[in-house]
Order: sequence, then C-alpha cells, then structure tokens
Amino acid sequence: MGEFKKLLEPGFIKNLKIKNRTSMGPMEKQWGDRLGNVTQFYIDYMVERAKNDVGMITMESTFIDPVGRGNIYQLGLWDDSNIASHRRLTDALHEYGTIAVTELQHSSRTGATYKTGFQPAAPSAVPCEVSGGYIPRVMTIDDIKDCIEKYAAAARRAREAGYDMVTLHGAHGYILNSFLSPFSNKRTDEYGGSLENRYRFGTEVYQAVRAELGEDYPLGYRISADEFVEGGLTLEDTRAFMKHLEGMGLDYVDVSSGIYESAPMIIHTMDFAPGGLLPYAAGMKEVLEIPVIATGRLNDMRFAEQALERNECDYVHMLRAFHADPEILTKTLRGDIEDINMCMACNKCIDLMFGDRRVSCVVNPSAGREREMAIKPAAHKKSVMVVGGGLAGMETARIAAQRGHKVSLYEKEDELGGAVRWASKGQYREEWWQAARYRIHSVNASGVDVHLGQEMTLADIKAANPDVVILATGTKPFVPPYLPGVNKPIVTDYTKVLLGETKVGKNAVVIGGQNIGLATAEFLSEHGCKCTVIDDADAIGTDLGGIKQMVVLPRIEGDENITVRLNSNVERIGDDWAEVQCKGESEILEGIDMVVFAWNRDMVRHLADEMAVDGTLENFRLIGDAAWPREPIEVIYEGAMAGRQI
Ligand SMILES: Cc1cc2nc3c(=O)[nH]c(=O)nc-3n(C[C@H](O)[C@H](O)[C@H](O)COP(=O)(O)O)c2cc1C
Ligand code: SF4
Repeated sequence: MGEFKKLLEPGFIKNLKIKNRTSMGPMEKQWGDRLGNVTQFYIDYMVERAKNDVGMITMESTFIDPVGRGNIYQLGLWDDSNIASHRRLTDALHEYGTIAVTELQHSSRTGATYKTGFQPAAPSAVPCEVSGGYIPRVMTIDDIKDCIEKYAAAARRAREAGYDMVTLHGAHGYILNSFLSPFSNKRTDEYGGSLENRYRFGTEVYQAVRAELGEDYPLGYRISADEFVEGGLTLEDTRAFMKHLEGMGLDYVDVSSGIYESAPMIIHTMDFAPGGLLPYAAGMKEVLEIPVIATGRLNDMRFAEQALERNECDYVHMLRAFHADPEILTKTLRGDIEDINMCMACNKCIDLMFGDRRVSCVVNPSAGREREMAIKPAAHKKSVMVVGGGLAGMETARIAAQRGHKVSLYEKEDELGGAVRWASKGQYREEWWQAARYRIHSVNASGVDVHLGQEMTLADIKAANPDVVILATGTKPFVPPYLPGVNKPIVTDYTKVLLGETKVGKNAVVIGGQNIGLATAEFLSEHGCKCTVIDDADAIGTDLGGIKQMVVLPRIEGDENITVRLNSNVERIGDDWAEVQCKGESEILEGIDMVVFAWNRDMVRHLADEMAVDGTLENFRLIGDAAWPREPIEVIYEGAMAGRQI
C-alpha cells in the first residue's frame, strides 16, 4: 500500500513497538462507573477500534484523585480497586496488538463541586467560568506533595493494569497546565512566579511518576501548545518546557492546544479547516528529538499520511474520526473511501459530555452500544417501504437492507438528504453533507431500491402492500398563515433561501435567531445581503451547543451585514417593510426586499394520520422529525433502531 507508506510504518516509543502510526486520541465518554471503573460497553467500543488495526489508543482523562475528577462517569485510577477493570480493557486491546495508553489527569480549576463533592483545588483562586465558576481552594505545599504522590500511585496502578504507556495530561487547563501557566498560576511561593517556579510542579510530577515506572517504561506528556488566552502560554513557552522534560528523559509529546476559556481550540468545530493544529505539532518537532503526536481534525487517513510525509509529526491522533467510524483505517486501505462514516466536527459528542450526558455520536449511533446495536440478520425477511429519504429514513433503509429485508425507499425530491440538503449550505456548514453523503452511499451499496421524485400517497402505499411501512417524512418550514402580510411577494422561508430557490436580495429581515435563523442570516450575508435577525428570546444561538456558540456568536457580532434584535417579533409585513415589536414599542423597518421565516418547523405527518384512519396496513411506524422535530443525533438513532427492530 504505497499510498500509505508512512502511516503503515511501525514506530517505536522507547522499546515499545507500535504497529503503525495511527492513534485514537483520548476522549472522556462518561462510560465508566461512579468509581472510575471500566465497563463492558467501554471495552466493546475499544475492541471494535482495535480490531480495525489502530496502532494505539489513549483512553481518556483518568482521574488520579476524587478531588480532581472532571466528570461524573469518568475513568479513574485513584484506588487499587480500579486496577481489575482496567486490566480487562488492556487485555482485550492486547489481543489485537493495539497499544493501550492511559492519560492521568486532575481537573483542578476546571472541576465542579456538583460532580466531585469537593471545592476544586488549584494553584491559585482563579475560577473557570466555563465550568461553573467555582472558586478553587489554593493548594498548600502539603496538598501539592500529596497530589504528586497520587500521580505516582496512579501511574503504578496503570502499569499494574497492563497499560503500555502513560501520558501525563498537561493540557486543557488541568492541574499540570494550571501550574505552568501565568494565566492560572498567581502564586508567590516556590511553585509560582518565575519560569523555574512554574516548571516545578510539572517537573516533580514527572520525576515521581518516572521513579515509579522506571526508565524503560514509555512516559509522555500532553501539552496545550498555545493556550489561546491573553496572558497564557504560547508555543515558545511550551516548547521550552517540553525541551526541559525531554532533557529529563520524557519519551513522547502529544500536542494539543487550548484551555476551557478557548475551548474551540481544543476541539475544532467544522468552522475550522482540517489539520489546523498541525503547525503546533510541527513547531514542537522543530526543537525536540522525541516522537511527536499530532491532533486536531485529522479526519482523513490521506491527510494524515501527508502530515507524516511532511515530517510534521510521528503519530496521528484521530479521535473523532475513529469514534465516528471504527473502520476508517481498514476502509481506507481497502480503497472504500466513500464508505467512511466521516466525522463532520459538529461537536455534539463534546456537548453531550459537557452537558453531563453519555457521549455518543450523531453519525454513529452505535458508538458505545457496539454489542447491543450489532447488525444481525433478520429472522423473517420482509418487504419494507420507507417513505422519506432524509437521515432517519435512509438510516432505517440501509440497516433493514443489511439485515436481509427487501427495502424500497421513496423520496419526493429529486435527491436524497432531507433536511441536510439545506442544512449543509453556507461556508461553515458544508460538512453537514457528510452525514447524508455516507447514508446515500450506504443505501445504494446495501441494495435499497431507491425511487426519487416520487411523493407517495395512501393509495400508492396500499397498492404496493408492503409488510412494513416506515414513515420518515420530515418537516417543512412553518410560515404562520395568519400573520398579516404573510402572502406578500417578499416573504419566503429558510429552505427556499438556502436551496437557492429564492433570489437573494439586498436587505432582509430574518425571523428566528437560533441555529436555523443564524445559518440563514450568515448565508445571506455571504451573498452580500444585509439582514436584521429578529428573535423574541433574550439571546441568539441558544441551541448551538457550547463550543459552537464560542465560535459562531463572535462571528455574527463581527459581521457587518448582520444586525440582531432580541426580545422582538414581526407583527405585520408590507410590500417593502416589516413592523417589528420590542417590549411594547413598534417600529417599521423600511426598504426590505426579503422577509425570511427561519423560526420554526412543522411536522409532515399526514400520511401517518391517513394510514391510521384507513387501518388497512397496520404495520407502520412514524419516525424521525416527522414524529417530533428534534436534533439529528436523535433522528438518526431512531432510524437506526427502527432498522434493527423490523
Ligand atoms: C467528547 C470528547 C471528549 C474528549 N476528552 C478528552 C480527554 O479525556 N482528554 C484529552 O486530552 N482530550 C480530550 N478530548 C480532546 C481530543 O482528545 C482531541 O484533542 C480533540 O477532539 C481534537 O482531535 P480530533 O479532531 O481528532 O477529535 C476530547 C474530545 C471530545 C470530542
Ligand atoms: S458527534 Fe459530531 S463531532 Fe462528534 S464524532 Fe460524531 S460527527 Fe464527529
């Protein structure tokens, strides 16, 4: 496989052989138990990736001390009782020749009392607003010594649990990062102030862990190469610290970036180009001899190969890429690029984690449910009709077909994709098409009989008389017919604008300032149209998810074409004006050539009602947004389950 020469080259970290240069990066998943033990579904998930030849896997931030626990169901190695379950995990990975890495962590100032039961402990009383603004307890010298001992004890447990390598989590604003950074370390004793003093905690943790693990055991460090906050660490600072630890025998460096206050720089959304953090890995490589692991939206093996060829790194962490498709490497090597269920950097996974929920994946509902969602052949083969070729319908169709059912899929438009057809329009939203692209490929590859441009009626369905009918008819924009002036020619909706069916004007009013409204406004702005976004809420973008908000809201604020009016609504529409009401005051906005409803969706479910009343075909089911408008993660999951339950 000449094309992937570098990627497939075995590597060595210390004396440890790694079968290729691919690596699955660390991801807290909230799949442990309350004490930090590994669960069976955690193991099942990892095995699925190991089976598909990933060279090494770093599990996740693993707490060394309950005070430093970052999340409720995070893994821990804080007690000897944790060893047994972690051992089951490493044994399972070793069966496939995959290197198992643990990442030892203490959440420090990013911690939250409601998760730990303790006040967060940190070098200084600098709260982290992003994680709730708890004022940390300033660690005493005794606390510091105790923490160092806990690192060493956790490292011993990691070795006893069979991990091949240990990474010290020195990134993302956690304790090692906090002591190193002048942004979070305001101490005036020997652990703060001068460079030498800020190095001290990290150096002592490194020395204690090294002493515990011995010289031959691979020990690395994850660093945020740049914190991307005012007064924070930059590449020059972090390179110097890594050089310092390299001089003491550090074996590898894993290069990330950002802290909670600059969270988009930890986990790039689709607003960023792939591989945006490679310059930081390359910057480390320039000054270090030890292997460098790169990270950050490396979602394509071809791209990863190029980074290795350019000598920007020695290994590539691909976290969300393996999360979305455990087979990304094997499919790439087989040349099945189209069959890759590609991560689109929507960041729903991290939103789930920050929202104290179980991590899963929009495009891969099986993530973390590998055993229960394994695709099994159907006991009785049936004829299945799916009406609606959006995400839910396509998911049901492809899974049902893979299970052996005879599936036909009917879509009223001339192409599959449903809501993604419009949702993927605009400069920063194109990646959404990946969710549809993969399903379109899979529907066809699974032998589904696809009918485009065919709007089904009750009579059509009855005539075909399938064993099972799945109605996944989606939503349509809601344009209130009772609003005065709603029939004026300037009135349109978000789908028509985004799909290019309405000519873009010069001065628009966009009704709706949440995800759909902002997508529409940005699209209009990209096409040179000024827009006033009207929303009755106190804030825009509340449904975007935390990290996405940190990216999109400043962009909207800086967009000269977009004006936002909160606590407002449109009362009447004229030929070239709209009357806007705000807290009892009315104003006429003049010179308007578009009023775009981008506010609300309505369910398309008349077929379900008609079938229920008719009663001839009893075996039907309404799924997806047509049952209730929701987020893509829920509708794909529902489609995935429907396909398995037939
Ligand atoms: C849900 C989620 C959880 C994460 N948890 C961790 C973690 O436990 N430790 C860590 O160092 N980084 C964590 N990260 C950051 C990733 O390791 C990685 O640096 C980032 O996602 C960019 O890489 P990617 O584009 O390949 O996903 C997490 C990211 C996500 C999306
Ligand atoms: S949830 Fe979104 S960002 Fe996370 S792995 Fe899946 S596709 Fe990627």
